[in-house]
Amino acid sequence: MNSKARIEFGDFQTPLPLAREICNRLRAEGVAADVIIEPTCGNGTFLVAAAETFTRSTLRGWDINQSYVEAAAVALKQAGASKRSSVQCQDFFTHDWEMELQRTSGRLLVIGNLPWVTNSAVSALNGSNLPTKENFLGLRGIAARTGKSNFDISEWMLIRLVRALRGREATIAMLCKTAIARKLLRYAWQNDGRIAKAALYRIDATEHFGASVDACLLLARTGSAGPETTDVFDSLSATKSSVRMGLAGQDWVADIVAYRRMRHLEGLCPFQWRSGVKHDCAGVMELRSAKVGHFENKLGEVVELEPQNLFPLLKCTDLANGNTIPERFVVVTQRHVGDDTAVMADTVPRTWRYLQSHRKRFEARGSSIYKGRMPFALFGIGGYAFAPWKVAVSGLHRDPSFRVIGPCKGKPVFMDDTCYYLPFEQESQARLVADILNSEPCRQFLQSLIFTGVKRTVTVDLLQRLNLSAIAEEAGFGKQWRALERTDYKPSQLVPQLQLVMESAKRTGKGVSGKHAPVRYGRRSKDVSQVAAKVGLEMPKRNRN
Ligand SMILES: C[S@@+](CC[C@H](N)C(=O)[O-])C[C@H]1O[C@@H](n2cnc3c(N)ncnc32)[C@H](O)[C@@H]1O
Repeated sequence: MNSKARIEFGDFQTPLPLAREICNRLRAEGVAADVIIEPTCGNGTFLVAAAETFTRSTLRGWDINQSYVEAAAVALKQAGASKRSSVQCQDFFTHDWEMELQRTSGRLLVIGNLPWVTNSAVSALNGSNLPTKENFLGLRGIAARTGKSNFDISEWMLIRLVRALRGREATIAMLCKTAIARKLLRYAWQNDGRIAKAALYRIDATEHFGASVDACLLLARTGSAGPETTDVFDSLSATKSSVRMGLAGQDWVADIVAYRRMRHLEGLCPFQWRSGVKHDCAGVMELRSAKVGHFENKLGEVVELEPQNLFPLLKCTDLANGNTIPERFVVVTQRHVGDDTAVMADTVPRTWRYLQSHRKRFEARGSSIYKGRMPFALFGIGGYAFAPWKVAVSGLHRDPSFRVIGPCKGKPVFMDDTCYYLPFEQESQARLVADILNSEPCRQFLQSLIFTGVKRTVTVDLLQRLNLSAIAEEAGFGKQWRALERTDYKPSQLVPQLQLVMESAKRTGKGVSGKHAPVRYGRRSKDVSQVAAKVGLEMPKRNRN
């Protein structure tokens, strides 16, 4: 199979020793099976391992690849199981799984390893190994356009199987990404998928598949409802679970026991967390200082640019490593989402010509959020981005450290879109909030919510759940916090920026009011106006934050 087809069909065959280890663990867990089904059996390693472990079971497998089906038949024959097994060439997407699973009588085990590929990867290869087009999980609008509609084929298949098993007792034992196991369980628990019991056993995907991804064996029992929690074992041989994950309301939490202990620290953050600036054109937009008045971009070009639209920039690794002195600059083409960028032709003609010379790169930006926007448009931009003080955190690192970021040579520092921040007018405010966020109670609460194996460990959704009041009291900052609340912030209606809508659609519509309502960074301070004036920017109108 060539590499394009291998990707399209998510073709990572399970090594026989791993399949055997899994079957042994199933037996140790008391799983018994009259019928074993492998929906995408490949060359049959799971069927062979299952035949060795469950010596009386009937085995049925399917795969879309005819040569794998033939190889599986041969392997089963060699294992002495050909009389009790059948394998067929079949496309998972066109199979009638309701009929298949409901008509099978006896104790049922659905085992295997579904394709490891996302729908967008298949589409990028002009492939067709996809379910019929439907609005998967009901995603609409901006979420569908910005990547939340991207899903793993195995997630779709697992949900398909769980739906087909509704009301039917069965055991599911599937190798998958840990994130997929979580999504499947959430789906089942929220949609009456009826999962009585579940456990995750971590596996080393690098060792077994050469893939650096957080993966596990998902073991679930269908047919009746059970607690919405799952034990996580660090390996297939672990006898004690290391942590228990679970659903708390709508949300998955990484450590449900710690979460229940700390949940009094959950609420609605009284400030609005912001994503850093998004431009999707780092080669052109991010530069370093070269000789006086000149800057070098990531393409290696040295260009002379006016300073007005250049702002110091920090990235997530800077925040994670505590490097708060920026070494990069970002070209800021707008003050608000939607501003006309053509004014730059007059105000900063060299910068405008520079951007124009790379126009094609901007037009080729993949994300559809740029469609129909001004040339060189940005997101994650608004009055808050020009705040002189920020408390910022990396979105990609597992152990969040909140950094106080102050102006650099008179200019507000920007973060890129791998970071999140709260904007402040005064250093003292930023320092107090950073102390609260870095306190032990906050750290413990965050750790109960943060998952491994996800790209964005920290999200706006998660940060917005921090009840700073409660954390401040618990961490010993109550007095300072109450003084800050009284003096500085007026609650106002939440106006989330675009990225926040995408990430926290559920939460933002709640219309919380009163003293703990989310506030926006909207007060025009003298400091900010002065900074803005210095760098040649007109301050935003208040109602556009
Ligand atoms: C990750 S491999 C796993 C194979 C096997 N289950 C194992 O554990 O070794 C995924 C398998 O899914 C098969 N596959 C991909 N798309 C399929 C589809 N639409 N219908 C049936 N099988 C499919 C591939 O041919 C491949 O053998």
